[in-house]
Amino acid sequence: MNAAGVLGMTPDILKRVYDSGAGAVISKSIGPEPRRGHPNPTLVRVECGALNAMGLPNPGVEYFVEEIQEIKKMGVPIIASFFGGSTQEFADVAYKLSRAGADALELNASCPNVAEELGMLAADAANVEKVTAAVRDETKLPLFVKLSPNVTNIKSIAVAAEWGGADAITAVNTSKGIAIDINLRRPILANVTGGLSGPAVKPVSLRCVWEVAQAVKIPVIGCGGITTGRDAIEYILAGASALEVGTAVMTHGLDVYKEIADGITCYMENNGFTSISEMVGLAHDYENIGVDNACLGMTK
Ligand code: SIN
Repeated sequence: MNAAGVLGMTPDILKRVYDSGAGAVISKSIGPEPRRGHPNPTLVRVECGALNAMGLPNPGVEYFVEEIQEIKKMGVPIIASFFGGSTQEFADVAYKLSRAGADALELNASCPNVAEELGMLAADAANVEKVTAAVRDETKLPLFVKLSPNVTNIKSIAVAAEWGGADAITAVNTSKGIAIDINLRRPILANVTGGLSGPAVKPVSLRCVWEVAQAVKIPVIGCGGITTGRDAIEYILAGASALEVGTAVMTHGLDVYKEIADGITCYMENNGFTSISEMVGLAHDYENIGVDNACLGMTK
């Protein structure tokens, strides 16, 4: 899947992501009302990744209902990412997106770029459980909860989401960072801080997947710096059952989805696996596993 916010702006762009090899697509995070987001600059390339501080710009759930219906007509499985400013708003938006025909929901509990009540819900386990439970009451759709790496104990937050009724955990959103223009002598992003994504965060995000997979019984969706088949395999072995790819589209174009899928297939063929589920979390059994990396050099 594409990571929420990456190419999730219009039905046509999401269709292109699907046609490029993603198994499903994820929308930009949708809130209760239209939101302009932060002023520019909102995105800066940094070494090994990108920093963004978009500020959750979106057209609001009422408008987005029509977009979901359009995407469904194209035959594309759509996961609607969403957020709210209160427990009730999260529940209301989830209800409307479910009725609109989304195939699954991803509760964004982790945007690092907005005020606490909108974004860093994920820092508080009790809140995560409460909001997840309120959303659970409004929808029968598969519900993923996307967590932040910017917390002290991600295991406890993941367990809280599971107790609240989540069907899967997405681990993780971006890591909070900053970039400074040495000539202007000021932060580059208008929001000052932003969320770091791309290869720079992969070891941190992978560690989050590893820890979450140890803490919960529900599936984990890996996200953070996945660019190659090798990255994907690392995430699966750490415990991810599915993956989200975002920043790699900036560096490799839309072909990256197919390249990653081909890399996974190559590894499976060379190592005698017939399904992804056979590989999920295998690295936790690290004392007993043998490794054949021969094919991975084929992936970009
Ligand atoms: C943003 O809109 O600022 C990024 C969204 C997110 O990281 O959840």
